[in-house]
Amino acid sequence: MMKDFQTQLEHAASQIEKDLKTKLAERDEAPESLLEAMRYASLDGGKRFRPFLVHATAALFQADEQLVRDTALAIECIHCYSLIHDDLPSMDNDELRRGRPTLWKFTDEATAILAGDSLQTMAFEILSTNATLSNGLMKLELINELAVAAGKAGMVGGQIRDMAAENNDDPQFADILLIHSQKTGALITFAASAGAIIGGADNTSKEALKLYGQKLGLAFQLKDDLLDVVGNSKDLGKTPGKDADVGKATLVSTLGAGKAELFLNNLKDGALYALKPFGEKADTLREAITFVCERDR
Ligand code: IPE
Ligand code: IPE
Ligand code: MG
Ligand code: MG
Ligand code: MG
Repeated sequence: MMKDFQTQLEHAASQIEKDLKTKLAERDEAPESLLEAMRYASLDGGKRFRPFLVHATAALFQADEQLVRDTALAIECIHCYSLIHDDLPSMDNDELRRGRPTLWKFTDEATAILAGDSLQTMAFEILSTNATLSNGLMKLELINELAVAAGKAGMVGGQIRDMAAENNDDPQFADILLIHSQKTGALITFAASAGAIIGGADNTSKEALKLYGQKLGLAFQLKDDLLDVVGNSKDLGKTPGKDADVGKATLVSTLGAGKAELFLNNLKDGALYALKPFGEKADTLREAITFVCERDR
């Protein structure tokens, strides 16, 4: 089991590595120090799970391969930027990421902030390049949905709520769900429905993949929080125990580890249910749920 998933995850990862390298080696007027910081934080690391999702959902439809690659690349740029900023001293104050010193530790805070900014704008540069009459509207839809997912009611909004939750001594279940669905769920949901946009799928399919992404996104952050409690820095490539250190309200701290595991299973069932309309074609996406729930990094 999981053979298709592993193969496709590796395929997505190797394409991302190649495309990031090419993009960050372009001979334009970008300062070398900025490029070096962008390469440091984006190359050779990470699971590349969001790019995988773009490829795997696109495979359900007739999708243009170049557009799939560009979208996978754009979303990974946004994700890497979110990690750089998430690790800053003013945010999670983390020193280890993907098994290496965090970017601000490796360089300095200003460079890390700017490298994050630059990866963010590069995502939109990638998606808006080579627009034609035939793909222009589709590209616009992708750009719009990515901007919304990354923005004030998506990833960034969730990060602000997450910071505030460090000082909340009576966190409500619904509040934490909202934090998770914004800070992590929004980008994963976009990744899971991007294939439907690129493949020109009907609304029913797109909604089904959105639902899948929402359940998967919550499961992804819940597992991240569980790993923060039980994981080790060697496997994780980051420092565990950080959430408890700052008294962050998470589903694990609110429900307790046992109930959190039950809820994880519940999310898994919900994600599986959402894939029903696609039949066997969606088996790799089913395996992806197991991966999210059983991973150790
Ligand atoms: C970590 O994301 C941050 C969260 C949103 C939970 P990943 O676990 O996907 O990190 P990488 O890309 O594999 O390093
Ligand atoms: C981060 O959540 C979510 C982002 C939007 C980057 P965490 O702060 O828990 O992620 P890690 O554990 O540092 O990867
Ligand atoms: Mg954080
Ligand atoms: Mg963090
Ligand atoms: Mg975490």
